[in-house]
Amino acid sequence: MTTTVVAPPTSATNPYVDSLQRAARVNWRLEDIIGADRRLDFNKRFLPDLLARVDRIGCLDGREKRILNQIRGNSYLHLFALAEEFILPAVLGQVSEGGTADITATQALLHFAEEESKHIRLFRRFAEAFEAGFGSPCDVIGPVPQIAAAVLQHSPLGVMFATLLLEWATQHHYLASVQGNDAEDLDPQFCSLLRHHWLEEAQHADLDTLVLQRMAGELDSDAIRTGADDFFRIVDLLEGGLREQVGLDLTSFTRATVRVLDAAEIEAVTSCQRDSYLWTFLGSGLSHPRFQETFAQVCPDHLPRLREASARYGGAA
Ligand SMILES: [Fe+2]
Ligand SMILES: [Fe+2]
Repeated sequence: MTTTVVAPPTSATNPYVDSLQRAARVNWRLEDIIGADRRLDFNKRFLPDLLARVDRIGCLDGREKRILNQIRGNSYLHLFALAEEFILPAVLGQVSEGGTADITATQALLHFAEEESKHIRLFRRFAEAFEAGFGSPCDVIGPVPQIAAAVLQHSPLGVMFATLLLEWATQHHYLASVQGNDAEDLDPQFCSLLRHHWLEEAQHADLDTLVLQRMAGELDSDAIRTGADDFFRIVDLLEGGLREQVGLDLTSFTRATVRVLDAAEIEAVTSCQRDSYLWTFLGSGLSHPRFQETFAQVCPDHLPRLREASARYGGAA
């Protein structure tokens, strides 16, 4: 009997090897980010103004802007926890699909899923800390399982593009708005959350890209078109949720500040915050060059729709 020696995969033969190595280098624990003496400072803003856009609302004073910023911080926690609730099953679906055919890919995707579970716990822990310290209740969209299930009704290609969009968006949420931002005195814990989340999301974005490239090789043009249609349906669904969140924030703001806004002030806050939400959660991902590059590889016929959507949500086309 002869034994064939199979060489272990290397990054030259299997891109998932690289991914696993990079993931191991940036891996962090929940305890490193929140808990013990790591507390939210409610005297500071939580989100950079590039994301929360409260500074341009002329009818609010400094304290009111800080409170609205913190409400945006809280909704950020809930919205990303919500996103992870559909990303996690989508990734596990890819694990089941692949089985043990490429065990390195399976290990990388399982690690990805494990990190998303950790992120859900991270966002929930921050949300608990927020609730304990903010002083009045804040409303958020839901029910989360129902929204996640509505997203997951779409084809895996559509869901995976929605995942990629959100993961590239987190790059804007840290690199473009928090890293090196000395102009704003932001809560260090919230900055740490954005940084640590981004570090792992950067690995996920690479894995999504590999999964999407594999899918593209297996699907015919009809299935690709269905995937693109589904992706834009998910974007519409997310837009609806974000628009609803703007109204909930206004109620939370009024409750927290006991400020009565007149009709013109409500319109000023609403229009500014609506644009801000759409840019932060959709435009920043849709316009990301790496997202557009992968979309162009997989769905070249649907690129004009992507450019139109990106411009609609405040990103470059
Ligand atoms: Fe995540
Ligand atoms: Fe992720």
